[in-house]
Amino acid sequence: MTSPTLTRRGLLRGAGTASVLASCTKPNGPDSSAPAITDANAPAEIGPDATSVEFTLNGKTVTVQVEPRVTLLEALRLDLDVTGPKLVCDRGACGACTVLVDGRPRNACMMLAHDVAGANVTTVEGLGEGEQLSALQAAFVRHDALQCGFCTSGMLTSCASLLRRRGSSASALTGAEVNDAIAGNLCRCGTYPNVVAAVLEVAGAKASTPNAAASATKAG
Ligand code: FES
Ligand code: FES
Repeated sequence: MTSPTLTRRGLLRGAGTASVLASCTKPNGPDSSAPAITDANAPAEIGPDATSVEFTLNGKTVTVQVEPRVTLLEALRLDLDVTGPKLVCDRGACGACTVLVDGRPRNACMMLAHDVAGANVTTVEGLGEGEQLSALQAAFVRHDALQCGFCTSGMLTSCASLLRRRGSSASALTGAEVNDAIAGNLCRCGTYPNVVAAVLEVAGAKASTPNAAASATKAG
């Protein structure tokens, strides 16, 4: 009787089978601490066709029918005709598309429209009362804080968010803090010192921090 010979191929095949069997019979089994995904808590599947998303835009409830791939910026500009937020870099680098989502500044080109379902979205159009400019917008005009205007709606929403966040302590704002708040808003026209001066004036901080705008800009 011939004894069976062990070939290299047979050895590898056997080892592979053994390791598969070992992994199937792993004593601990699957990670029991991981939450189980059930039909009930799985995220709802949407698309690829357009489906509706509802959110609050500048105080009014709006509904748009968009495909899941559509950004918030596209939905605002193309579907809702809200063109204050600008499309410049389309990659989160310039801040021209900044809007407020639940009060926080966000790049609308980097969010999907479906991500703001149920949220509160504020664009530059929602900062004033109808045709009436907000105090911040009026200060931008007084301080010449805009030139070509491409960055301006993003600058305004970032600064409005800062003022709202600071609330009653806004009068203690410094130029450096304003520069921090607009760090993601690029202005090729170089309006930064004027933007800082406008914000400090609205905050009532100008008198308490003389030359803050100039010194903060030099520091930044
Ligand atoms: S267009 Fe969104 S960050 Fe530039
Ligand atoms: S005003 Fe022109 S880019 Fe800022």
